[in-house]
Amino acid sequence: MSSAASAGPWWRHAVCYQIYVRSFADSNGDGVGDLAGITSRLPYLAELGVDAIWLTPFYRSPQADHGYDVADYRDVDPLFGDLADFDTMLHTAHEHGLKVIVDVVPNHSSDGHAWFRAALSADPDSPERARYVFRDGRGDQPPNNWPSVFGGPAWTQVPDGQWYLHLFDTGQPDFDWDNPDVGDEFESVLRFWLDRGVDGFRVDVAHGMVKEPGLPDLLEPVGAGDLEAAMSDTVRPYWDQPGVHEVYRRWNRVLADYPGDRMAIGEAWVVDAAAMAQYVRADEMQQVFNFHWLEAPWSAAAFRTVIAETYAAVDPVGATPTWVLSNHDVTRVVTRYGGGDVGRSRARAAALAELALPGSAYVYQGEELGLEQVDVPEQARTDPSWFRGSGPGRDGCRVPMPWTGNRPPYGFSPDGVASWLPMPPDWDSLSVAHQSDDPDSTLTFYRRALAVRRELLGRLSDQLEVIDRGEDVLVLSRAGEPALVCVVNCGTVGAAVVDLGAPLLTSEAAAVADGMLAPDTAAWFRA
Ligand code: NOJ
Repeated sequence: MSSAASAGPWWRHAVCYQIYVRSFADSNGDGVGDLAGITSRLPYLAELGVDAIWLTPFYRSPQADHGYDVADYRDVDPLFGDLADFDTMLHTAHEHGLKVIVDVVPNHSSDGHAWFRAALSADPDSPERARYVFRDGRGDQPPNNWPSVFGGPAWTQVPDGQWYLHLFDTGQPDFDWDNPDVGDEFESVLRFWLDRGVDGFRVDVAHGMVKEPGLPDLLEPVGAGDLEAAMSDTVRPYWDQPGVHEVYRRWNRVLADYPGDRMAIGEAWVVDAAAMAQYVRADEMQQVFNFHWLEAPWSAAAFRTVIAETYAAVDPVGATPTWVLSNHDVTRVVTRYGGGDVGRSRARAAALAELALPGSAYVYQGEELGLEQVDVPEQARTDPSWFRGSGPGRDGCRVPMPWTGNRPPYGFSPDGVASWLPMPPDWDSLSVAHQSDDPDSTLTFYRRALAVRRELLGRLSDQLEVIDRGEDVLVLSRAGEPALVCVVNCGTVGAAVVDLGAPLLTSEAAAVADGMLAPDTAAWFRA
């Protein structure tokens, strides 16, 4: 087939595994994951069958937002290792055939960044302050009524009376992207990591860097408590402003200077698929996270809508979609789909749909183990959004990986070490070691699904048809020789699949019996 899905740049159909660095593997026994820990676990990821890894920020940082507050964009925080550890990790990943995507955080730095420290000790009208968004207040009030995504005001006052903008934590001052110094600095940062050999960038808050001129007040007041809503409301004068696309046009040219299809994927929580697709026009980023499946409930109708809207938006700009079930900012997918055995079964079924769809899939660490959201005790919580009053925060999806053994820290850290977030006492059956020996485990299922997907890819095209088989059943048919049909049963009774023959792969061992697909399961068929 001439338009085989395996053709084109590596990222088009890559399965990318998100590593939340603090929580993946702790090599030095300080309770926090690190780069050497990742290196030691690369064989696991190669065996899992993913194509690429994305690492959350490991740069020098006071860790006010666990690394999304960067003090030095060109160095590794000692908590995670050093540049030599990074180079070893990168080289070893490449030896295993894994591409490496690193995070870049261009909307804001840390308040510990040299530029911000210089701004604080400079005059209100100085060029140092002009790299950030400093303004005079209105009387003793902030310059406008913008809220921080994490809760509370988006402004903090400094001793000389001026205020600085931080859409996130106080420790994360926003850059002023109207200042050419900022664009030049980030081009240099990208080149620093590209020269070291990274394959791509995940762009943090990609829709946020440019603010509406004059920083107008929000017309409607915003309450705290809903982080996702706070990130994605595009009517706000700081999200999805047209000028932000110029940044990605420049970055596109930077990436094109390097061999090997280097890429960028944007985190843009915008209001709909059409707005999302603007970020992947031919001269901008290569990919953008498609958060719309992640925001959908467990419902075949909702999934059909997400798929239709995604294609309607990305086709006109010639982009390939991405599919995402979870990440380090949202409630884990098993829990969102109802929790326990039902939630896990649905999450596996959704994974089969995601992996059948043309495009690239992002798998968040622990998804392959079927981990659930953890109710982290209040006294152990660390997320700035919790401290700023924005609900329980995101610690519950960031609990470290259980690798082996039958009690915390399950091989994440050496025995006897307390991990930075406490791990549940009943996770032994979820560990990698435990699940590796179980033919019916979620891990075994993921390994199988990724292997079959890889094998099929060369014989499949990007042509997709969504077939009508009733309200509660999602049926995807992807053209190929043979075609791949994925059936997901979101209903409460069995769905007839007898005409499709024997399944190639199922989300549960007993998903198909007597020609019927059980509720909360999915299957792949050759057609
Ligand atoms: C999005 C990141 O995914 C999140 O973890 C972080 O808190 C914010 N951006 C601010 O950088």
